[in-house]
Amino acid sequence: MPDRYAVIGHPVAHSKSPWIHAQFARATGEDIAYDAIDAPPDAFVAEVEKFRAAGGKGLNVTLPFKEQAFRYCAGSTARAAAAQAVNTLLLDREQPFGDNTDGVGLVRDLTANLARNLVGVQVLLLGAGGAAQGVLAPLAAAGAAAIVVANRTPARAQALAARVPGVLACGFDALGGRAFDLVVNATSAGLSGELPRLPQGLFRAGALAYDMLYGRDTEFLAMARAAGAATSDGLGMLVEQAAESFLVWRGVRPDTRPVLAALRAY
Ligand code: ATR
Repeated sequence: MPDRYAVIGHPVAHSKSPWIHAQFARATGEDIAYDAIDAPPDAFVAEVEKFRAAGGKGLNVTLPFKEQAFRYCAGSTARAAAAQAVNTLLLDREQPFGDNTDGVGLVRDLTANLARNLVGVQVLLLGAGGAAQGVLAPLAAAGAAAIVVANRTPARAQALAARVPGVLACGFDALGGRAFDLVVNATSAGLSGELPRLPQGLFRAGALAYDMLYGRDTEFLAMARAAGAATSDGLGMLVEQAAESFLVWRGVRPDTRPVLAALRAY
């Protein structure tokens, strides 16, 4: 019997995680099965407990359950505690344990796949919701000279920035006159075809605009391209966070390059 894993979310039908983990399992020879669980919004804990009782070893957690998963865990890694969100559950211990691989997934996509240097650069993180929460501390730890968190609702940016020493916060209007080497869009604006109301001139020469969404050319990426910036969607982050979860569960890190290349070609 293979060890059982799954991604839990709502909705989850279009998740690429089962396919990605199947490729990892094949390439590493690990005997696992990986499914998708669509949990009704009020049934997250019940679904996790059911999976655990049936012998499930681990879960990836996606929208909208990452914060709930953190509260559900009896213990967590430092990086999950910093994010106050869990995307990787370990269920084969006495008590459920949580980790968060989103931040390391973003940093690895930026540095390994996109060959970006993060040391000494000026970083702008757009958004202050769950997606931004998951990546702020790992981005800061990667060596940026300065990080600004900007959000439509400035108070949320301030609350998030206060968690990491040296990070500044503001609303979009207050960004005027500042320019960055890396601008990460962690807002959900692209899901509804919207563009955060950003001032002109945000991108320094050679800057990268990164949208954590994937599978669509967002208004943010189109705007950045028009402003002369290099662009990337979040597909590489998806594959890298999956590889880190696989490592946490199985103790072996799969090669992400062929999986990312296959998804890009698809
Ligand atoms: P998630 O967990 O996906 O981050 P969330 O917690 O609802 O979801 O956060 C969504 C983020 O996208 C927030 O930063 C939100 O800004 P507010 O805090 O001001 O609500 C941001 N967002 C969503 N739609 C946006 C839009 N059209 N323009 C700018 N920011 C937007």
